Amino acid sequence: MAFFRACSGWQLSESQVTAEGVFWQRRRFLKSLIGAGAGFAAASAGACQQSTIMDGDLANTLGKPLGGVRLNQAFADAGRQPTAQKYASSYNNFYEFGGSKNIWASAQALPTDPWTVEVTGLVKYPQTYDLDDLTRRFALEERIYRFRCVEAWAMVVPWIGFPMRALMAAVEPTSAARYVRFTSFYDPAVTPGPSFGFARSLPWPYTEGLTVAEMANDLAFFAVGVYGRTLPKQHGAPIRMVVPWKYGFKGAKSIVKIEFVAQQPATYWNTLAPNEYKFEANVEPEVSHPRWSQAKERLVGESTALFSWEEQPTVIYNGYGEYVAALYG
Ligand code: MTE
Repeated sequence: MAFFRACSGWQLSESQVTAEGVFWQRRRFLKSLIGAGAGFAAASAGACQQSTIMDGDLANTLGKPLGGVRLNQAFADAGRQPTAQKYASSYNNFYEFGGSKNIWASAQALPTDPWTVEVTGLVKYPQTYDLDDLTRRFALEERIYRFRCVEAWAMVVPWIGFPMRALMAAVEPTSAARYVRFTSFYDPAVTPGPSFGFARSLPWPYTEGLTVAEMANDLAFFAVGVYGRTLPKQHGAPIRMVVPWKYGFKGAKSIVKIEFVAQQPATYWNTLAPNEYKFEANVEPEVSHPRWSQAKERLVGESTALFSWEEQPTVIYNGYGEYVAALYG
């Protein structure tokens, strides 16, 4: 696995250093110098000095630059340093392409051009958008969000995209709509699933769901980019959900369909193991997963590569209580 390679595997030539990694490190470092952002992890100090250096093949998977996107100041500081892109783009869950974290190479088989997203169900104005429609019609912004997987690893990711409620305003859900189902791309010819024998019997396509009220929340976001570029395929190109107060599995990747419905929809993980993966799936340190505690989280980064994960306490709603607590009161 790329992630558990010896440090020297990352220490490539200057020409393979990605602009993004250096950009983020410098930006956050300058900020820390002026006293902001208490609590930043110091994980990158230590044996592997060249923490932003990326494998050349991995660098080739990154998307195209997305210029002129403004950083939303309300989400400019996640209280931790953004995860270096080389880690975020090589430690992924995308089960359509395999059961390991190291799926970035196999995910390159995902066909993303052309791409359409059908918005349908209980709405006044159903639409099928292509990617250009989406990025022209909805103003793009950058938001730096915490990301917390149900498996207890965490990152900080600078997404580019637009609020989900902008899309809701365009299609106008009817009063009968109470839930929303999101469906990911699936084609057994290119998404083989994990290599274990029962992959075909898994509940494909990958689906997720929110309540309409959750989708209308300030935080709920569709990402079309990350680290200043269009989404790499391993992150769920060309468009994925980001709901940072919930466990990462709620953020379906490579979305092809959004459907407003009256009843709570069946979803992928909740169908597979309802006692382990709840529909609501909010980040809650006190509520243990049946097989592990959620009280702490491990930061993906340099320490992961060094086999010594840095641990931090988990925060209720992943730190976004001021935005979402009222939804669950
Ligand atoms: N979406 C699809 N279609 N397939 C998946 O396997 N995995 C989920 C979520 N979205 C997944 C998915 C899980 S478990 C997590 S933690 C996040 O994607 C991981 O996002 P990342 O790889 O971009 O960090």
